[in-house]
Amino acid sequence: MRIVPFTPDIDVSDFTCGGEQHHFDLDDFLKTEALRYAGQSLGHTYLAIEDGLVLGYITHLTDSIRLSVAEKDNLKSRLGFPPPHTIPALKIGRLARLARHEGRGVGSALMRHAFDKLMDLSESTGCRFLSVDAIPSAVSFYEKLGFVGNEHGSYQGKNRDTTSMRFDAFAPELPEWTGMGNATHRS
Ligand SMILES: CC(C)(COP(=O)(O)OP(=O)(O)OC[C@H]1O[C@@H](n2cnc3c(N)ncnc32)[C@H](O)[C@@H]1OP(=O)(O)O)[C@@H](O)C(=O)NCCC(=O)NCCS
Repeated sequence: MRIVPFTPDIDVSDFTCGGEQHHFDLDDFLKTEALRYAGQSLGHTYLAIEDGLVLGYITHLTDSIRLSVAEKDNLKSRLGFPPPHTIPALKIGRLARLARHEGRGVGSALMRHAFDKLMDLSESTGCRFLSVDAIPSAVSFYEKLGFVGNEHGSYQGKNRDTTSMRFDAFAPELPEWTGMGNATHRS
């Protein structure tokens, strides 16, 4: 499986993430919006491809996370100095894999790509957390990867119900999926 930037020459017309709760919005985003978003710097999309078949996609954009007082105190004790009110983040704007490829590691591989992207970005600009507004059926997927809910920022709307979550890419210990499972980190 390769992960490549989404460019207009790649055919995504057959992509569907399917499932019991069919997420048509995620299919439609890839087919109609993703390239427009990239063109206007609203989000960049990357595709997981194998043998010419698009197995999944992820869209990144930037974000900032406001911490609660308790969360800030916790981070302060690790950093040894008071963190800013908001922490820069790389946001998973969209994530989906092909319906018939469920549970084969496509989602995790795309998340690893996001983690690597964050690490690259953090060399040139402040970026510490991965963030996501998770739909209800995906919350446990992100929890499995080590994401926690943000005290600020969850959204329950008329047509949308999401949980704002984050993952600290500079935590002292990182899970295996990051590829830095044994690394000793900077805070
Ligand atoms: C979320 C999603 C991208 C995960 O992709 P995937 O390729 O199936 O995930 P992986 O194969 O990498 O699975 C990694 C682990 O998460 C688990 N997992 C996958 N989807 C899960 C879900 N929705 N809820 C709970 N656990 C899930 C897998 O069982 C696996 O567990 P294991 O490590 O114990 O074996 C996929 O379920 C999907 O496209 N869902 C529909 C769209 C969606 O919800 N997108 C997220 C929007 S915020």
